[in-house]
Amino acid sequence: MFTLIMGRWVSHLIYVAAKLEVADHLKRGSRTVEELATATEVQAPALYRVLRALASLGVFAETKDKRFKLTPLAVTLQKAVPGSMHAAALMFGEKYWDDAWAQLLHGVKTGEIPFLKAHGVPAFEYLEKHPDSLKIFGETMTNVSSTENPAIAAAYKFSGIRTLVDVGGGNGSLLASILKANPKLKGVLFDLPSVSTRANQDRYVTAKGIAERCTLQSGDFFEAVPKGGDAYIMKRTLHDWDDERCAKILSNCCTAMREKGRVLVVDAVISPGNHPDRGKLLDMQMLVIGGRERTKQEFATLFRDAGLKLIRVVPTKCPLSIVEGVRA
Ligand SMILES: C[S@@+](CC[C@H](N)C(=O)[O-])C[C@H]1O[C@@H](n2cnc3c(N)ncnc32)[C@H](O)[C@@H]1O
Repeated sequence: MFTLIMGRWVSHLIYVAAKLEVADHLKRGSRTVEELATATEVQAPALYRVLRALASLGVFAETKDKRFKLTPLAVTLQKAVPGSMHAAALMFGEKYWDDAWAQLLHGVKTGEIPFLKAHGVPAFEYLEKHPDSLKIFGETMTNVSSTENPAIAAAYKFSGIRTLVDVGGGNGSLLASILKANPKLKGVLFDLPSVSTRANQDRYVTAKGIAERCTLQSGDFFEAVPKGGDAYIMKRTLHDWDDERCAKILSNCCTAMREKGRVLVVDAVISPGNHPDRGKLLDMQMLVIGGRERTKQEFATLFRDAGLKLIRVVPTKCPLSIVEGVRA
């Protein structure tokens, strides 16, 4: 139990290593703690103790004479590796998340949204007002997505679809993966204006072979989503919101889609039982911001409330599934 209680300390240690970019400083081989402290402009004795503690967990390894080297886990903290966890380590170590999580007990007692209690605005509004945090959030989503996108693109037969709308598509990395795998498919990337502007400068939907088949539209998915799509995909988007808000997003998709249109919700589907399940922990992050991860039954109810019918759940080779719905 004490090890579990110390979990928060571990997260702080990883944050310090990420902020100081220690993993990138070790790219060319092992270095002494003095060399690392000089390069990162911090105190060597304290840095040594941080790295020694991390090394006891498999993040970095101490060799001899207070020298440290990379381990496979430490490599994930490098900024440019595929699936990098650098931005995630930064994001979840930032004070605004600590402040939100500190209100979890309040949320459990009252049913209020912890993030709202801590910051006075919903999470995405907060991010819109804090461009540096929004940038790190975007990088976290991109990096997490890069490990998931190929599995999602491979799990579903997109070939029967002419136009796919990605609702809350972020920087467009999922849409770009799907368009790449399906050369006849057209895509519409839809997100908030600031996110859309960045996606337009990013490398995914602007890439050759993709840009010609992809348009970008911005707006508020609680108001409306782009019209005329054959399918509306939303990955890690519904889990940010409560049932009422999700029903609004889904019914906006239902209104906008073609006659035989479909929605493809890509999220964790929580299964029964007590086995380890990262989705159940991520559900706590969602509780903090006012969203939730859902079971198949909960998705079915959500779809029903939006005028849709859940027809199947397609598993993928990543922890997310594709929950497919059509007009009821
Ligand atoms: C958790 S992110 C998922 C991003 C992307 N689908 C992915 O998997 O990487 C949720 C997305 O919803 C977008 N979003 C939040 N509120 C929105 C709104 N009211 N209208 C449109 N998009 C919104 C955010 O900007 C963000 O890109």
